[in-house]
Amino acid sequence: MKKWIIQVLMVGLIVSLMAACGADAEDAASTSEETEDKEVLKMATSADFPPFESYDTEGNFQGFDIELAKIIADELGYELEIEDMDFDGLIGALQADRVDMVMAGMSATEDRRQNVDFSNAYHRSGEMFISQTDAEVDSLEELEGKVVGVQLGTIQEEGAETLAEEYGFEVKKVDDASILIQELNSNRIDVAYMDKTVAKGYVDSQGFVGFDDPTTSSPGMAIAFPKGSDQVNKVNDILEELTDSGKMEELKDEWLSDYE
Ligand code: ARG
Repeated sequence: MKKWIIQVLMVGLIVSLMAACGADAEDAASTSEETEDKEVLKMATSADFPPFESYDTEGNFQGFDIELAKIIADELGYELEIEDMDFDGLIGALQADRVDMVMAGMSATEDRRQNVDFSNAYHRSGEMFISQTDAEVDSLEELEGKVVGVQLGTIQEEGAETLAEEYGFEVKKVDDASILIQELNSNRIDVAYMDKTVAKGYVDSQGFVGFDDPTTSSPGMAIAFPKGSDQVNKVNDILEELTDSGKMEELKDEWLSDYE
């Protein structure tokens, strides 16, 4: 009888030892998977924002942010993987650690700094109101009674909400910045409120007219990381090197000079 109990106890012990080893093996597997993952730098963007990020005619990502991201990934020794999503989802993707960094012409605002870390700024722009030539909107006062489109989750959304109260216009929010242009072309909005560098491109390519927002003081665009990411300092060093070597200027000449 006693021998029987000992046998049962022994079996129990062996089973639990095996389970523990199994758990160890699993841990080891997930660690090595993480190490493998590290070789890929996952960047998220919202590819609706030329000249910073958009698609070329073959469906590849293109733009200033894309080129800068490639250089950064290269310098850090990672393979770059780019995921396109709505601008409004980018901060959440970083907070959930679904991606390692975001480059999307994102302005490094104090509000966003509560939830993500930013590199140093790499570009400064302003804000602009653009419309069809016959709209005759040349000032904030003339926005009264108009429908002004903005991209959801952007600083322009927030800025427009504030200005709307003072100047009496309606704000229409859309997910995608290129939809703003379609809305403008089809007269579903009177005015689009957007980043100045991007807006200038549309003024040139689509014949819109526009005026600068005299009230804006937005912070520069920067690369966003999950809070506490150890990439921030390394990326700041890379940005500094690129500026010192003249490579940054070269990139800006190539992608942004037509938009100034
Ligand atoms: N600079 C603005 C912001 O940070 C707009 C950025 C929009 N970017 C984009 N890829 N659609 O809110």
